[in-house]
Amino acid sequence: MTINVNEANLVFHLQTDHTSYIFRIMENGEAGQIYYGQKIHVQPNYKNLTSREWRDDNPSLSEEDPNFQPPAIKSEYASLGKGDFRYPAFQVTQENGSRITELTYDHYQLLNGKSRLADLPSTFDDTNDDAQTLVLSFKDQITGLTLDLNYSIFPHQDIIVKSVKFTNPSSEKLVLNRALSSQLDLPDSNYDLIQFSGTWARERHLYRNQLRPGIQSISSLRTSSSHQQNPFMMLARPQTTDEQGDVFGFNLVYSGNFLDSVEVDQYDTSRILTGINPDEFGWNLAPQTSFQTPEAILSYTTEGMNQLSQQMADFYSQHLVNPRFTHEDRPILINNWEATYFDFNEAKLMTIVNQAHQLGIEMFVLDDGWFGHRDDDTTSLGDWFVDKKKFPNGIEHFSQQVHDLGMKFGLWFEPEMISIDSDLYQKHPEWMIHDPKSTPTPGRHQFVLDMTRPEVIDYLYDLMSHMIESANLDYIKWDMNRHITEMFSSELTSDQQLEMPHRYILGVYQLYDRLTKAYPNVLFESCASGGGRFDLGLMYYAPQAWTSDDTDAAERMLIQFGTSYGYPQSMMGAHVSAVPNDQMGRITSLKTRGAVAFFGDFGYELDITKMAPEELDQIKDQVAFYKQYRHLFQFGKFYRIDSPFVGSGNVISWQVVSDDRKQAIAARYQLLNHPNAPYTRFYFKGLDPNQQYQINDDAETYYGDELMNAGYFVPTILADGKESKDFYSQLFVVKAV
Ligand code: GLA
Repeated sequence: MTINVNEANLVFHLQTDHTSYIFRIMENGEAGQIYYGQKIHVQPNYKNLTSREWRDDNPSLSEEDPNFQPPAIKSEYASLGKGDFRYPAFQVTQENGSRITELTYDHYQLLNGKSRLADLPSTFDDTNDDAQTLVLSFKDQITGLTLDLNYSIFPHQDIIVKSVKFTNPSSEKLVLNRALSSQLDLPDSNYDLIQFSGTWARERHLYRNQLRPGIQSISSLRTSSSHQQNPFMMLARPQTTDEQGDVFGFNLVYSGNFLDSVEVDQYDTSRILTGINPDEFGWNLAPQTSFQTPEAILSYTTEGMNQLSQQMADFYSQHLVNPRFTHEDRPILINNWEATYFDFNEAKLMTIVNQAHQLGIEMFVLDDGWFGHRDDDTTSLGDWFVDKKKFPNGIEHFSQQVHDLGMKFGLWFEPEMISIDSDLYQKHPEWMIHDPKSTPTPGRHQFVLDMTRPEVIDYLYDLMSHMIESANLDYIKWDMNRHITEMFSSELTSDQQLEMPHRYILGVYQLYDRLTKAYPNVLFESCASGGGRFDLGLMYYAPQAWTSDDTDAAERMLIQFGTSYGYPQSMMGAHVSAVPNDQMGRITSLKTRGAVAFFGDFGYELDITKMAPEELDQIKDQVAFYKQYRHLFQFGKFYRIDSPFVGSGNVISWQVVSDDRKQAIAARYQLLNHPNAPYTRFYFKGLDPNQQYQINDDAETYYGDELMNAGYFVPTILADGKESKDFYSQLFVVKAV
């Protein structure tokens, strides 16, 4: 039993292998948070942890119980209006305009396993033996509204999944103004908030700041999780590092507008709220209807951020990613985007395909420009049928040639978009999101389809499934290259307009759901101008995501390092592209470009028909090397060692280790070379201390304890006049002997 319920005291103690999450039903009938952290013993009650002191400036629950002062209570799911003045987890407006609710505990239910949500991506335990679920039901004494707080624990990965369901059994029309997925009130504020922020081509850089009184938050109002702020965040003690220390992780299984906020109050407690952004949100909870929030993921460890990342990554691969792809090695692909952009035809692409085949590359991905009459980015989005000028015999014929070589074939779509210059716009201008009273705002010369309309979903499903079947697609890259403006739908009533951002995302999920169910063997890679929708919502459908449009090796070190805190390598698309790099103009060696891209779903994105024979030999070697260690690169335990976000950041290193600790590969990158450098040792992580290892097939052997504690001597990188030693990389392949 890992969820312990003390019926007499109504204390709920959720235990994972290493953590405890405890709360109870309080005097006022609401749930009060008691503790979340390292595992502690089960007790009938925790009087010590729930003791309070009276403060004369606070309101009290009643004259009889002056010590129950809402501003000092750590609650599980707070409302506003009954004396707790911190930002609430939810708010409901009644027909008379009142926003006051009085929730009281009704009953609980314990279930084995964790079922999937109906219309949202969600975590799951399909075998019903890895998880346990507690549903705690409350009733609002004023409106009759019922509220279920759902908690699922996945003990082995120390994960707690939370979500909330609101149901309106009354005849009154209620409106949800706020409906966060999770609230956690921690007893102090001695934490650093670690967030992953950036912009296009510079996604998920790490920012670490001490909490301060007041609200601090990350969020999105772009109807996507966004390049700018990722929904993953951590709270770590100031002394916590990748190797040691207490840290909480928070993420959301959601791809739309989100809010992660931390409010440090007058008593230095911290309230963490995560969920749908309450701005640009409102939901009509009509009589007899329900609203289900997305799921929030919580995790905790005392063993540092590497451990937190590993347990979350393990959890996603077991309980979030489509099981069809959980352990399946991902193919090495070549994508024609940076090789040709829009300038291609079948013959030109076939030269790339043939060359790729000779090099051992396993899949060809045809990117943007194969449909309508799209020779640049101003036209044809929505017209998902082949451009006969480029493919006179259809994509089927081209795909057949790729398949005949024994390679897989994938295709790019940007389903959610529409160009004004398109057949689709001619037929259905009303399908474009716009406000009839306002001038539409273009972005990348394109506009967005109203994914809240069922007929739009049907149209896209029909065209995409036709392409999947006729071209026998193995893979789809689903792109999304602009954010939504003029958020308005003529299909929705005036009081439903604030539902639109969430309804839009539900539409995206619906299309993904239909396609992935109908074509379970098609591998989806999500993309949003690179990493603009790199989130757990899409990971449920698309096990891979294009990490960033920035393919420069040095920039990718930072992006992949930052991304690794919240997401596994098997999710990160990572390609070798040409130099000078198209985004940065920077020149890095093919060796370094490979050594960075290896640590993800590896591929190429350059014109290999224009490369010198020595470079092609090098690519052949890279492909063979990656195939040999692919499983380790994609699914091995990931350790961050030297961070680009700490100190000078000039040296960056990381490592993957196999589950049995018999194999590991570490990479050490140097941005700029410095003369007469200090003597350096490299400290491996995660090896078996009692196991002997060889490095890069040298004759010498070393015990794991020596390599981890005493280190491994790294010779100074000397300039030799042949190649630049800036952006230099070294790989250490470690094998048990
Ligand atoms: C986006 C993607 C790129 C490429 C282009 C095509 O920018 O991130 O990888 O697919 O669109 O237009």
